[in-house]
Parts: sequence; structure tokens; C-alpha cells
Amino acid sequence: MNLELLKSAQIGDLSLKNKLIMAPMTRLRATSNGVPTDVMAQYYAQRATAGLIITECTMVSPMSLGYMNVPGIYSQEQAKSWSTVCDAVHKEGGLIFLQLWHSGRVSHSSLLDGKMPLAPSSIAGTGDLHTPTGKHNLETPKKMSLEEIKEVTQQFGSAAKLAKEANFDGIEIHGAFGYLIDQFLQDVSNHRTDNYGGSTENRSRFALEILQTVCSVWDSKRVGIKLSPSNTFYGMGDSNPELIFGYLLSELNNLGLAYVHMMRPTPEDLKAGQTIVDTLSFARRFYNGTLIANGGFEKIEAETVIETGLAELVSFGRLFLANPDLPERFRCNASLNDADGRTFYGAGPDSIKGYTDYPSLAETLARG
Ligand code: PHB
Repeated sequence: MNLELLKSAQIGDLSLKNKLIMAPMTRLRATSNGVPTDVMAQYYAQRATAGLIITECTMVSPMSLGYMNVPGIYSQEQAKSWSTVCDAVHKEGGLIFLQLWHSGRVSHSSLLDGKMPLAPSSIAGTGDLHTPTGKHNLETPKKMSLEEIKEVTQQFGSAAKLAKEANFDGIEIHGAFGYLIDQFLQDVSNHRTDNYGGSTENRSRFALEILQTVCSVWDSKRVGIKLSPSNTFYGMGDSNPELIFGYLLSELNNLGLAYVHMMRPTPEDLKAGQTIVDTLSFARRFYNGTLIANGGFEKIEAETVIETGLAELVSFGRLFLANPDLPERFRCNASLNDADGRTFYGAGPDSIKGYTDYPSLAETLARG
């Protein structure tokens, strides 16, 4: 099949062998100290035929922790183990960006050594989390001081430096999914009255300052950002999402980024009345650069997105999770392995079930 998806592409100065991006996915296979494990290197290397891999969300500090066994990039030990992951992917001819993340209010004091989670305002998100002391609802977070805002911005900068030392090809700032940057953007979670709340300009400040900081470490051509203007995860929402996300997307034009990675709403988000239905067309109205489409795309729909110019690239989560050789399967029009939801989130470090044991097409054929 002569799919556009399988043709090469350019992101900034990087040449991608195809337009299939492996989407960031939380898999929880790191140690309890956030150190990447050997199975993570194997998992990512297995998927090196993606045009680009974007890693799972990775903590920029201990306070970024939202889930047990997520990896971090704030210590030398973590960076060193990440370099093993990068080497394994590069050896297979792949490219890999690290997703930098702060969970903000999507956390719990029992994950944070008794400290309260940080957020723009003292407003709890909805939902619950697994913690060492069982399942807990999200707590009412501590409103960040101006000092703490500066500190977190600097943590993104330090993490970006370590990502460079670890030999990543670039970084993605996680501005989506109801985590800290998203909490600053949207007014359901940001009631501040200082320079970081209120107007669209003020609510975008945190995201833009983080981007400026990491772009002093990395060439901006190697920096992307992920946004989810219509997703309601953890109680997210905004009284005028067109305004805040339109403003932010316009401002991003000044930075010369590698790409903007746009999530589309889920059926539940649409039922909840979210108004930006077509996030790609929306982004195109404001942003002139490269777009990656994300959100449960299948092959034919993804191909249409590329052919009609709605986005330059498409990222796949579940399909890459269950099919390490997804581009090859698309090429041969082969059947796909089903993803097993029971093993999405690891039973701790080194648990390979539902992680590195999905067979490649060749393995399936060999088994008959
Ligand atoms: C995402 O990039 O959309 C993403 C990553 C990790 C999560 C959730 C969402 O836990």
C-alpha cells in the first residue's frame, strides 16, 4: 500500500523515515526512584521503526510524581539510565524525544513524602490515584507561590539539560491532560489574581516561560509541546477554551518549535459539551507550524488526516503499544495485535508482561 503515512517527513532539522509517531504513554516500569529500567530500553528499541518515539511522561522533580513507578529526569542516575534507552533506540535507527512532565494537582501527599501537591490554585481535581497507602481521591493542592513557580520553571530547564546529556533527539513539554501546565492554562483550575492568572496572557505565561527556558538549552527546532484543549480528564475545563488556546497557539508561532501535538476530544469529552470538536482545524487557524494529530487514530483515518493536510504527522498510542512493528504492519496491511488494558500500567519495574512481549509480525508468522 502506498500510504502517505509511510513516506518520510521533516520535523525541524530531523528527517523522519515515516509519519507514524509513537505517542507518549504512561507504562510505570521504572524503579520507585524514577530510574528507567533495562526493559524500558528494550520496549522503546522494539518500536524504533516509528518515525519518532515520544517517551512516556517523565518527572522534572520529585514533586512532579503522579503515579508510582513513573521515570524521572532530575538525577544523574536517571539521566544515565535514560542514555541506555537512547542508545538502544539509536542503535536500531530510531529517533526519540523525552516528554517532560509535572503532574501538579494530579497527585497525593502519600506519593510526595507527606507534602501537598502543587497547583496554580487550591482547587482539587476530580478522580483518584493509586498510592502506597491505597486508592485516594485527588487532594486539595497547595497554591504555588511566585517563588515555587520560578523553581518549577527552572526544574524544566535542568531536566532539559539532563535530557540533552542523555542523548535524546529532542523534548516534548507536556502541556495537556489536566497536568500542571494545563492547570495554569484553564480557568477551572486557575483562579489566581497575579501575573499567572486571569487574562489569557497571564494564564499562558507559565507554559511560555517553561518553553523559553528549555529553548535556552535546546534549539527550539528540537522542542515540541502537547496540548489537549477539549479533554476533561481530572475535571479540566475552561469557560472560553477558544480564547485561551487560540492565544497560546498564536504565541507559539514566535518560538520556532519542532511541532505542536494536538489531542482530540474523546466521546466522553464531547458528551460533556466541550466546544472545540476538531482540534486540528482549530490549531491550524492560529498555528503555522507542524502539527501532530493524536487521539485513538486508526490507519485509514490517519491517512486521511495527512492527505487532507489537517496534520503533518499522526501519533499512535495503543496501536504502537501492542504492535512494536506498526509501520511494517501498515505497509503489509497485516492484522494488528490487540492491546491488553490489564497490563497498560506495570506491576512495577521490570514487569514485561504486556510490555515487551507483544510479537512482531515475523514472530507471529513464524509461530504459525
Ligand atoms: C499524553 O501525552 O497525552 C499523556 C502522557 C501521559 C499520561 C497521560 C497523557 O499519563
